[in-house]
Amino acid sequence: MSKAKVTAIVGGQWGDEGKGKIIDYFAQNADLIIRAQGGDNAGHTVINSKGTFKLNLVPSGIFNPKTKNIISHGTVVNPNTLIREIIDLNQRGVKTTNLFLSENAHLILDFHVYLDKLNEERLGKSKIGTTVRGIGPAYTSKVKRVGLRAGLIKNPRRFREELTSVLSIESQIFKKTLLPPEFKPQFYEKYFKLWSKMLGDLIKDTNAFVWETLEKNSKILIEGAQGTLIDLDYGTYPYVTSSNPTINGLLLGSGIPANNLTQSYGVFKAYQTRVGGGGMPTELKDTIGDQIRQKAGEFGTTTGRARRVGWFDGVAAAYSHKVNGFTNIALTRLDILSGMGEVRICSEYRFDRKRMRDFPSDDAVLKKCEPMYQSFKGWKEDLSKIRKFDRLPKEAQRYCKAVEALFPGAKLSLIGVGPEREALIRV
Ligand code: IMP
Repeated sequence: MSKAKVTAIVGGQWGDEGKGKIIDYFAQNADLIIRAQGGDNAGHTVINSKGTFKLNLVPSGIFNPKTKNIISHGTVVNPNTLIREIIDLNQRGVKTTNLFLSENAHLILDFHVYLDKLNEERLGKSKIGTTVRGIGPAYTSKVKRVGLRAGLIKNPRRFREELTSVLSIESQIFKKTLLPPEFKPQFYEKYFKLWSKMLGDLIKDTNAFVWETLEKNSKILIEGAQGTLIDLDYGTYPYVTSSNPTINGLLLGSGIPANNLTQSYGVFKAYQTRVGGGGMPTELKDTIGDQIRQKAGEFGTTTGRARRVGWFDGVAAAYSHKVNGFTNIALTRLDILSGMGEVRICSEYRFDRKRMRDFPSDDAVLKKCEPMYQSFKGWKEDLSKIRKFDRLPKEAQRYCKAVEALFPGAKLSLIGVGPEREALIRV
């Protein structure tokens, strides 16, 4: 067992659970934060004394001058997005000297973005609804063993050679005469110098640093992106992302051996949202859904798309707990439900006229599941100034306890009652 205390923060639903706020809370006294999977499809909003920041790749520990931040080998990184993010942070007075990029992180290049768009167009009506950031194609290149890794940025000559060979493979779907510019090596000439100047010093063997930190009396945070229900293996395939946002994926992608994990926080929103296609039994297509969407500003951080909104899905949440084995739960955005006459939790599905308590593995089945609800009396009070659980209206307490009961063995430890860092109840 290492000396370090390691906490993993995992999205329990379809992503956008408000993980940024929970990560920011832990980040304040973390020694090291590791972003372990995904890429700039993620968007974390962090609100602190320096302002409102929308981060796609850079871990939230960047705001604490003592915290080291790693974008690890499990991620896929678009160098241009990362550079833009670094410049924006620097211009707003946030230093990025504690930011490191694993030499083994795979790069997303413009041809991956091109392929993502093309795949979606070809799928037509049954498109995944991706963020079109090239995530799927970049992970595909990695699995096909023709990926380009960040370490190449430090060696432009080798980068050119490998890129030329990779493009000759990845461009086979096009006729030679109709090759889009993104599939020609010359297209990337404009980038080599910029990437090496802006990112060269950040690129390291980050696992060596992770293992060193594990041996110290330190606090390490693994920052999950996306959510359990869009996990490549456990999610609603094919309407999933191309990485594993579940605990096992975070361990694989971060360099932390499994027995060094101290605690795992599942982050759940007090209601639920989803972007893109795929089943969502509790989706609210009515005015209640619109009301929650508007009040909560449920529009994508990365793409601006309106998110689908629904009641808390207890069947999906219990599944998420089985997959991850959470030790603790964080419930976010409880304040959004204030003012509703009634709030609901889906306790089971009805499918084919039968009751169903297990989350189905087939998205086609999920799409046909009808939600069966447990109804709770709502509350009117504004929760944003409340910092103690027993100060919450009794109805809100009852709702929280019903949520906690869905996670046997785990404790509801944090409740978000507003967007600011301080708007958090420690239970
Ligand atoms: P991709 O990750 O861009 O390939 O998109 C695959 C699916 O995951 C789509 O339904 C996206 O909307 C969804 N997705 C990707 N990243 C996020 C996220 O950070 N939050 C919520 N949904 C996401």
